[in-house]
Amino acid sequence: MAEAEPAPTPAPEPGSGSTPEPRPRRLSPGRTDWSTWPVYERAALGLRNFWYPVAWSEDLREAKPIPVTLLGERVALVRDAGKAYALHDRCPHRGVPLSLGSQQFPGTISCPYHGWTYRLPDGVMCAAITDGPESPITGKVRVRTYPVEERLGLVWVFAGDLDAKPPPVEEDIPEELLGRPLSIGGRIQPGRAGNWRYAAENGFDEGHAKYLHRDSLWAMFRQLPVWNDTKVTRSPDNRWVIRKQQSVHWEDTFPGLGPWSQARWWKVVRTAPTPRAARSVDPVIASLDLPAKASVRLPYILRIAYPRFIHYEWAVPEDADHHRYVQVLVSFTEGLSAQLFRMAYLGYIRWAFHGQFTGQDAWMVDVMNIPPERLYRPDASVIEWRKLVEEQHRETGPAPPRRRARATGGPASPAG
Ligand code: FES
Ligand code: FE
Repeated sequence: MAEAEPAPTPAPEPGSGSTPEPRPRRLSPGRTDWSTWPVYERAALGLRNFWYPVAWSEDLREAKPIPVTLLGERVALVRDAGKAYALHDRCPHRGVPLSLGSQQFPGTISCPYHGWTYRLPDGVMCAAITDGPESPITGKVRVRTYPVEERLGLVWVFAGDLDAKPPPVEEDIPEELLGRPLSIGGRIQPGRAGNWRYAAENGFDEGHAKYLHRDSLWAMFRQLPVWNDTKVTRSPDNRWVIRKQQSVHWEDTFPGLGPWSQARWWKVVRTAPTPRAARSVDPVIASLDLPAKASVRLPYILRIAYPRFIHYEWAVPEDADHHRYVQVLVSFTEGLSAQLFRMAYLGYIRWAFHGQFTGQDAWMVDVMNIPPERLYRPDASVIEWRKLVEEQHRETGPAPPRRRARATGGPASPAG
């Protein structure tokens, strides 16, 4: 078991006086408490040069642009002739969102205010309708466009530096999801409170699930352990950090306090340390031979493998204090089995797991306030995740200047 990371001296606790303290700001740009992980520390607006899932393909309809905020940038998703496009969601003329616009000519979007019209593939302003066909500004203005792909029924946008060459989108999708039949259920929740790193750390946090979620509906009939001895390791390809259970403690006695457990007569103990070890396991999941239930990789893809399905989640950074929470549940089935999975998802799992259970996480992600922090043994999982970011980020060039990014607006530098 890894030792707890040396932690800075905690700041004085607020609220010691008689008047209530104002709620502290969540991220303090000047603090260096995460200086052990400099890339991570300054990634308040996310990790650039990755593909992020931002919307369901079926929700992106012709003539119905979708505005999203991605790594501090406002982006308009547009569908035209079946193909998805993404443009900076701000008309350079007077700053109106292009996502409020409409299509006046094929392959374009026109701003709702004065009708400046932009070509979808390259963002070049090809007509200023209210200045006539000979308008001298035509062709001299351009909005940024973003690479877009659609896979798994999701729209993926590459949030990259201006000069970055995007890798194939498959590079940023877990490979077991490609090239085989599967059925998907999921939820996308924009504007979830909390920095994306809080959500990522919560997702892979080893210690919290068995306590925070102990009374959740999802765990109603399962006894959760008191504590685990967990080894944090890497996948053979080094892309995933993995939490491997060494031993599980279902009850224990705390010195001077007495015994504690979550044993209840209606709860059963499930002991399989890996999905493959379960009594009934989906053959595809068994073939993946996952060494443990929980794993995480960049830019924050959490994978929680159950015997019959796998939960994936992304915390897509919006601004310094919000993220788009994308939850996907995958069953490697087709035909009738896939339909039964969809019914189970819509009838129960979406509500109990992707609703109430992860709603408890949303509560913590909203109210937590770090740094400073004081880590303990199970936080080896969090520390290894931060190390992974330091190793595998795709930042290029020198570190950007330290400044807090605006919550919305045009292309912004990452800030800490
Ligand atoms: Fe877009 Fe004027 S603000 S055309
Ligand atoms: Fe949780």
